[in-house]
Amino acid sequence: MNMIVTIFVIIFIISELKALKQISSSSSSSSSSYIKSNNNNNNNNKLKSSSSSLYAILKTNTVVGSKNLDWPNLGFEYRQTDSFVKIDYKNGQWGDIHTRTNPYIDIHIGATALHYGQACFEGLKAFHCKDGKVRIFRGKENAARIARSCERICMPPLSEQKFMNAVNIAVSQNLAYVPPYGSGGALYIRPVLFGTGPRIGLQPADEYSLVVMVLPVADYYKGGLKPVTAVVIDEYDRAAPRGVGAAKVAGNYAADLLPNMGAKKAGYPIALYLDAKTNTYVEEFSTSNFLAIDKNGAYVTPKSDAILASITNKSLMELAADEGMKVEMRPIKIDEVMNGVFGEIAACGTAVVVTPVNKIMYKNTVAVIGDKNTSVGPTLKKLYNRVRSLQQGEEEDKFGWMTEVN
Ligand SMILES: Cc1ncc(COP(=O)(O)O)c(C=O)c1O
Repeated sequence: MNMIVTIFVIIFIISELKALKQISSSSSSSSSSYIKSNNNNNNNNKLKSSSSSLYAILKTNTVVGSKNLDWPNLGFEYRQTDSFVKIDYKNGQWGDIHTRTNPYIDIHIGATALHYGQACFEGLKAFHCKDGKVRIFRGKENAARIARSCERICMPPLSEQKFMNAVNIAVSQNLAYVPPYGSGGALYIRPVLFGTGPRIGLQPADEYSLVVMVLPVADYYKGGLKPVTAVVIDEYDRAAPRGVGAAKVAGNYAADLLPNMGAKKAGYPIALYLDAKTNTYVEEFSTSNFLAIDKNGAYVTPKSDAILASITNKSLMELAADEGMKVEMRPIKIDEVMNGVFGEIAACGTAVVVTPVNKIMYKNTVAVIGDKNTSVGPTLKKLYNRVRSLQQGEEEDKFGWMTEVN
């Protein structure tokens, strides 16, 4: 009898233990799904995809700059990060924002981007600021510019809000790659929008994609601004009057490859284009605008419909005006440049803010710009420092240029 009672008690204890184990494992799994769904709810408005829980986990656990890369020596090169953002346009509308980790995408062999260059892109940066927050510099300007590029080559533009959401998610998923404040680097953001639908006769596609990739880049001027010698390209044109020079379309850059590589091979890091019609007016460098400070201290930059409206140039002009300087947008003759009208000259763009130009080579003549003993003129240096301080949250954002990443 005792034996029977003992066996019964043992069986009872085992079954109780099993039940207890089941309760604890089910409660722990429900708590982890609770965490995920809770985060999903927070981000529902921004991200509707199967990867939204991944986003939430990354977001809650990520510390800015935690990838521990060699921040000062990253250069400006492609580098894979954790994920990118993709939005597809089908049936006449832009769809939801998705995130992807594999950087390869399938594309139809008849895609208009491949055959007819129906593609445009943007370049902007996010910074880890002094107060610990990550902010994007003038993203709404890029949203407006990509919409203009889209219109020029018959692609459907995105709303400013959708563009900014896509950029925000691409950055927030890759916070670990944002160079920490003090390193001087930034997270470079490259949105690319292109025709994916097949066409054989020349006409716009009916399907498109926008991808937003991000990658960390270093401070180009670790040891201070370094001037370069530019060469004027006089055998090729960048953009025709009434062409696509004012749009950031892929084909403009393919057209520049040959002259640009030739200039580099000849020892000139940057190449300056003149207007295609008369070959007498300055237009812009391959991937940056031209700006100059004249002998009266005015900020002068070329006026032409074939130039891409640089957001850095716009910012520098606004800061120059804020400093009380005269700002002129006017046709600039290459002869003015060669004859010493300007005391300071620079190329400007997102990648480096400004590149001082201290010599210009044109038809076998070299013009020396400014004082040959100083690496950069005082006005350019002041404007450069102000842009950098604003970007890194060291100067108050009184123009409202920075958008916080959340
Ligand atoms: C042709 C061209 N001009 C100028 C710029 C500079 O524009 P942003 O200051 O907006 O980078 C770029 C780079 O985007 C460019 O590709």
